[in-house]
Amino acid sequence: MNRRARTALSLACVLLLSACGGTRGAPDAKSPVVLGYSQLGDESSWRTQNSFSIKSAAKRAGIKIMFEDAMQDPANQIKALRSFIAYKVDVIAFSPLVETGWDMVLGEAKAARIPVIIVDRMIDTADESLYAAALCSDFYLEGRKAGEFLLRKFSGRETPVSIVELAGTAFSTPAIGRSEGFREALAGHGKFEIRFSEDGDFMQSKGREIMKKVLDRFEAEDIDVLYSHNDDMTFGAIEVLREAGIAPGRDIVIISVDATQRSVDYLREGTVNCVIECNPNSGPQVMDLARRIVSGEKVPKKTFVRETTFDEFGDLDSIPARGY
Ligand code: AHR
Repeated sequence: MNRRARTALSLACVLLLSACGGTRGAPDAKSPVVLGYSQLGDESSWRTQNSFSIKSAAKRAGIKIMFEDAMQDPANQIKALRSFIAYKVDVIAFSPLVETGWDMVLGEAKAARIPVIIVDRMIDTADESLYAAALCSDFYLEGRKAGEFLLRKFSGRETPVSIVELAGTAFSTPAIGRSEGFREALAGHGKFEIRFSEDGDFMQSKGREIMKKVLDRFEAEDIDVLYSHNDDMTFGAIEVLREAGIAPGRDIVIISVDATQRSVDYLREGTVNCVIECNPNSGPQVMDLARRIVSGEKVPKKTFVRETTFDEFGDLDSIPARGY
C-alpha cells in the first residue's frame, strides 16, 4: 500500500471511530492522553529526525499519538486537523507548512474545546486565542547569525561580496525569518550583495537543480558566498560545485542551517564554513506541554527551542555528536 493510500485509510479509520461514538472521557492511567499530530512532510533529514523525536517522546511519555504526514500539502494538514477534531482528541499539535490559512480550522478546534500546540514553524493570525502554546525555532535569529558570520569572515575586504541564497519553502516561517534576519544583519554594510535567491523547498534535489542554474548564469569566480536555508539543499549544491571542479568552502564560502552530522563533518573538513543549528529534537518539550495543557496548567504562550552556531572560527573538536 502506498503512502497516500495509507494516509487515506488512517483518516477513514479516525472518522469511523468518531462516527461510532468515539467520545472520550478525561484522560487517566487507563485512558491515556490522545494527541493528534499533523507533520508537514518528510522533505529533509531534519524533518525525519523531528518526526522520530515526536513519536518516540510520545511513546516514552505514555501519550497515544495519531500521527499524519501531510506530504507538503496544507490541504492535507487541514484534513488531518479536522479528523482529529472529529475523533475528539485531547490535544492537537501541528507543524504548519506555511504561515497563513489556518484560522478557520483552528476556530473549529477552539469551538470543540480542543487545545492546539504550534510546533517548529509559526502561524500568522490576528487571533492568538486560536492556539494554546507555540514551541518554535527562532528563525530570524538563525538568519542574523548567518549574516554576522559573513561580517566577521569578510571584515578585511573592501571589494563587493556577492551572495547566492538557496531559500526554503516560500511563505514558511523558516524561509521568512532566515531571509529577513540575514538581510538585516548585513544592512548598512554596502559591500554585501545578494545577487540570486530562489526557493528550493528545503530539498536536496532542488538544491542541485538551483545550483546548476546558478552556474549556468554566473561565472564561479563571481560568487563569493552560498547561503543555504538548510543542510539538504546545501548537500545538493555541494555535489554540483564538486562536479564543476569548484572547491566548496574554499572557492565559495558556504553557510548552512540545521547542523546535521553530515554538515558538521563538512565543517570539520573545510567544505562548509558555518553551520547554524536548528534543533529538531522538540518531542519531549511537546509532550510536556501537551500533558500540562490537558491537565489545565497555565503554560507559556511562546517558547523558542535552544540552538547554537558552529563555524570555522570555533573549537570544532568540542561539537557534540549530532545523532542524526
Ligand atoms: O522548519 C524547519 C526547517 O524545515 C529545517 O531547517 C529544514 O531542514 C526543514 O525542512
